[in-house]
Amino acid sequence: MNAVIELLKQHRSIRKFRPDAIEQETLNTLIEAGQCAATSSFIQACTVIQVDNPTLRTELAECAGNQAYVASAPRFLVFCADMRRHQLACEMHGAEMQSGYTEQFLTASLDCALFAQNVAVAAESMGLGLVYIGGLRNQIERVSDLLQLPELVYPVFGLCLGFPDQDPETKPRLPLNVVLKQDRYDDTQDHDAIKAYDEQVLEYYRTRTGGTKEMTWSGQISEMLVKEARPHMLPYLQSRGFLKQ
Ligand SMILES: Cc1cc2nc3c(=O)[nH]c(=O)nc-3n(C[C@H](O)[C@H](O)[C@H](O)COP(=O)(O)O)c2cc1C
Repeated sequence: MNAVIELLKQHRSIRKFRPDAIEQETLNTLIEAGQCAATSSFIQACTVIQVDNPTLRTELAECAGNQAYVASAPRFLVFCADMRRHQLACEMHGAEMQSGYTEQFLTASLDCALFAQNVAVAAESMGLGLVYIGGLRNQIERVSDLLQLPELVYPVFGLCLGFPDQDPETKPRLPLNVVLKQDRYDDTQDHDAIKAYDEQVLEYYRTRTGGTKEMTWSGQISEMLVKEARPHMLPYLQSRGFLKQ
C-alpha cells in the first residue's frame, strides 16, 4: 500500500457539496492532470466544457433527470469525445479525414474516460469530492444544443466537483476472483462469489439507508438490464458523424 492506493480505495461518489468555491487555478491544475493520461495513438480526443452559467447549469440538471447537484455543485464539467480538431489537423496537411469509424468512436470515448478519471483522482487528492453524471445522455440532443457542440463532438458524461458536505461509506466492489481471471476466462466460481457479494451489498444498503433500501447487486442489475438503455444513442451518434462504419 502507498498513499495513492489508499486514496483510490477511499473513493465514493459525493452528491452533497459545501458552497466553498474551487478557484479557476485549481480547476486548471485538475484539467492539466487529466491531460497527462495516456491517450490512444496520441489523439488527445477529450474536450472539457466548464459550465459556469447558472441558467445553463439548471437546464443541464433537467437534462440529467433533475439531478439537483448538477446545478448546485461548485463546479460542473462536461467531458466530450472530440474528433473535430483532427479534421483540422488533416486539413492543415491537405488531407481528407476518414471519419465515422467505430474504432474512432471507441478511442475518443476511452480518451475521455481516462482523462476524466485522472481529473477525479487529482481532485480527490486535494480533498474534493465528485460524482460522474451519465444522466446527461438522457437528453443528449438537448445537451449538445445547449453547449453548441459541432459535428464529431459528443458529451460522454458530466462531473460535479466540490468540497464534500457528506461522508458516505465506500461501496463494496465485486470479489477479486470475479474480475481477475488467470490465463483464460473461467466463470465457474462466479455464481457463488456473486451470491456472497450480494449479502455484502445488502448489508451496505441497510446500513447506509437505515434499513429503507433492501437491494443486492445482482437484483439491482437484473432490474436495470431488462429495460431498454437509451436507444436514442445510436441515431444520435450517427447524426453527429460517429459510428457510421
Ligand atoms: C460514467 C458514469 C456515469 C455516472 N452517472 C451518474 C449519474 O448520472 N448520477 C449519479 O448520481 N451517479 C452517477 N454515477 C456514479 C455511480 O452511480 C457510482 O460511481 C457507483 O454507484 C459506485 O459508487 P461509488 O462511486 O460511490 O463507489 C456515474 C458513474 C459513472 C462512472
